Amino acid sequence: MNIAIVGSGYVGLVTGVCLAHIGHQVICCDNNEEKIKALRAGRIPIYEPGLEDLLVKYVKSGGITFSHSIRDASKKAEVIFIAVGTPSKKNGDADLTYIENVAREVALSMDSYKLLVEKSTVPAQTGDRIARTIRLNLPKKNKKGNAAVPEFDVASNPEFLREGSAVHDFMNPDRIVIGVESKRAERLLREIYKPLNATMVVTNLATAEMIKHASNSFLATKISFINSVAQICERVGADVEKVAEGMGYDKRIGRSFLNAGIGYGGSCFPKDVDAFVCLAEKSGYDFKILKSVREVNESQKAWFTRHIEDKLWIIKDKTIAVWGLAFKSNTDDMRSAASLTVIEALRGEGAHIQAYDPQAMANARKMIKGIRFCSDAYAAVKGADCLLLLTEWDEFKKADFVKTRDLMRQAVVFDGRNFLDSKALGELGFEYYGIGRGGNA
Ligand code: UDX
Ligand code: UDX
Repeated sequence: MNIAIVGSGYVGLVTGVCLAHIGHQVICCDNNEEKIKALRAGRIPIYEPGLEDLLVKYVKSGGITFSHSIRDASKKAEVIFIAVGTPSKKNGDADLTYIENVAREVALSMDSYKLLVEKSTVPAQTGDRIARTIRLNLPKKNKKGNAAVPEFDVASNPEFLREGSAVHDFMNPDRIVIGVESKRAERLLREIYKPLNATMVVTNLATAEMIKHASNSFLATKISFINSVAQICERVGADVEKVAEGMGYDKRIGRSFLNAGIGYGGSCFPKDVDAFVCLAEKSGYDFKILKSVREVNESQKAWFTRHIEDKLWIIKDKTIAVWGLAFKSNTDDMRSAASLTVIEALRGEGAHIQAYDPQAMANARKMIKGIRFCSDAYAAVKGADCLLLLTEWDEFKKADFVKTRDLMRQAVVFDGRNFLDSKALGELGFEYYGIGRGGNA
């Protein structure tokens, strides 16, 4: 099938490349010309495991092409996926300016049936707005002067791709959700995803939009819940890791997304929780649980910083090593990374920060000023009074901790992800502090 993807960021690019991989002819579009140039040459501007190899393969075969014109791309396709950014406004509401713009551009050049599919996360009822925008901007007459206007459909097909494992998630979905208002749209979307042989949830537009917001918000809730439990564990001498394990065997609960830490970040959870709270408010419902989820997430980062201050005693002029800056491992993405908040607070207290991340250094340099970026993990710990583990990269687990200890001024570790082997570190003479690890249960 001929498919266009508008917006070639983390989500759009993975979607485009993977759709080419399952046999479709894809044209990816982005208003960033530099990005399009790089993609045409087979280079990806982000770090996403497995993506570049597939991209190179399908650029060579011609299965995927690129354009910076929405009109050009949409003319060549029957189905158009919208994957442009949906950032937060100051009040937390989703800013849908880019989405409206795509709808208008597609409408202005529409000369045959098109199916527009929301891939970006959007609040419920956005589909209706897109349809209205298209109706208002359709050519009144076609080129032959006839009054017949082309037909179109709008559908929702939310993404559930975790950065760092997005290609795998696309190829092995737990489910594919499609929200449609016509049989034609349903048929097209079913055909697109047929090669994946996945469980399909077919529903109407608004319900599909809700599934996405409810899913991400629920996952964020699980994280804030376990972070709250971690706070109590800390106080009563219990170990949150064991609590999560014990809870997780219950199939009704499940172990995943019960990792206590320094709070969730990234381009989705913080933004989606905000937008869902806003949507609820607009519809006249006070979404108290979700407001608390957000508060707990913020307080978790603040608690972590206070904890460091408490144990280090004086922060001013201390050298603090940071391992990991990205909002999670296996990505270079720094959007809403917890490291930003923690580093800013410690810098504010006068600490000297020496940081290293395996992939996120370039993005981090643009967002964090006044710290030392180091060439590797060992350079970061040299002369440090403590080490903060903020992102759970495998590289850090495999580090030489004897060398690390000997390079540091004080062997103190704050593990913001409960990722390192606390026992082994203890045996090497480190003072180890995790999250919610009040006892050795
Ligand atoms: C985006 C949304 O923010 C998210 O809510 C959704 O679930 C998926 O799409 P992401 O792919 O991570 O997430 O964003 P980003 O990497 O910023 O990609 C958006 C791309 O759209 C960028 O490459 C940007 O240049 C492009 N864009 C933006 C356009 O092509 N046209 C526009 O008008 C605006
Ligand atoms: C999320 C959704 O999971 C995915 O389906 C899609 O909608 C895009 O948004 P992503 O943000 O890429 O994916 O990563 P995810 O693995 O969900 O992690 C989000 C944040 O939660 C990260 O900061 C991560 O460190 C944190 N997290 C995750 C925890 O703190 N504890 C956990 O147990 C799991």
